[in-house]
Amino acid sequence: MIRFESVYKKYKRGGFFASKTFDALKDIDIEIKDGEHVGIIGESGAGKTTLGKLLSLVELHSAGSIYFDSIKINSKNRKTYRKQIGMVFQNPHTSFNPKITIMDSLLETKRNKEDIVKQCLALTLKEELLYKYPHQLSGGEQQRMAIARSVLSNPKYIIFDEATSALDVSTQAKIVNILCDINSDKKYSYIFITHDLKLAHFISDRVYVIYKGYIVEETDNIYKNHAHPYTKALLEGINQMRTVENALGCPFYDLCEYKKDICKKSIPPLKSIGKNKKVRCFLYD
Ligand SMILES: Nc1ncnc2c1ncn2[C@@H]1O[C@H](COP(=O)(O)OP(=O)(O)O)[C@@H](O)[C@H]1O
Ligand code: SF4
Ligand SMILES: [Mg+2]
Repeated sequence: MIRFESVYKKYKRGGFFASKTFDALKDIDIEIKDGEHVGIIGESGAGKTTLGKLLSLVELHSAGSIYFDSIKINSKNRKTYRKQIGMVFQNPHTSFNPKITIMDSLLETKRNKEDIVKQCLALTLKEELLYKYPHQLSGGEQQRMAIARSVLSNPKYIIFDEATSALDVSTQAKIVNILCDINSDKKYSYIFITHDLKLAHFISDRVYVIYKGYIVEETDNIYKNHAHPYTKALLEGINQMRTVENALGCPFYDLCEYKKDICKKSIPPLKSIGKNKKVRCFLYD
């Protein structure tokens, strides 16, 4: 459904007029199939939101290839396919127009009132909330309305970027359970971008681990079936691991307790080491 082949995303560093650039994403290979629930995890600044922007076709990649239903994405066709992808962000109030009612916002999906009410009930939202303005809803209700909107627009897949991070634990659990229920027949693919390992594990069939703009691991079970030293460190709860750039070698070189000579000199490729399992590390050569 969507496939990335060695994708890079370059940004200017230090403002619009700066001449220096850096790669926020490097050599990204990803494939998401119909109906899959996929997690993307990593610490702050790793490149998760940038990856979400490319997966949602909100931004164009700088190098490599992206295929959406086998069609190669370019600057001309990107906006056409973007409409087939849903996006739910951390702060839903910024995604609703504060001057119109929720119903008016949801009618922009071109669905009729009956469908809208039905979808809201499926998300345990009372009909009366539809006639209110965004600020009159709680954070959890706004977020479920944002989910309703993305589902009503009938997307191929929905990307959730830290969509439940701002909510309290019980609201978060409620929303996650609802998301699983409304997609029990796997009509949509879900992509969960989060720093929360437990959440990613609970909701995803497969997880990508991202570090300093690289995918360092892909696994079907982050807890029981991981291989990369960085994933191990993440599971041990070590945060704030960003260090000085090591442009030539492995992005995790500075902090790795297993490093070898070669790790300083070149970047390991992302390599398959089993079914649903890939790792970017010279230990698995
Ligand atoms: N529009 C932009 N212009 C310049 N740098 C950016 C832009 N967006 C993100 N970055 C940088 O790219 C890196 C990855 O950011 P981001 O994708 O937001 O990470 P995450 O979501 O994992 O916290 C960071 O160093 C961030 O400062
Ligand atoms: S490639 Fe080397 S430095 Fe990088 S994670 Fe593997 S062992 Fe550690
Ligand atoms: Mg982010």
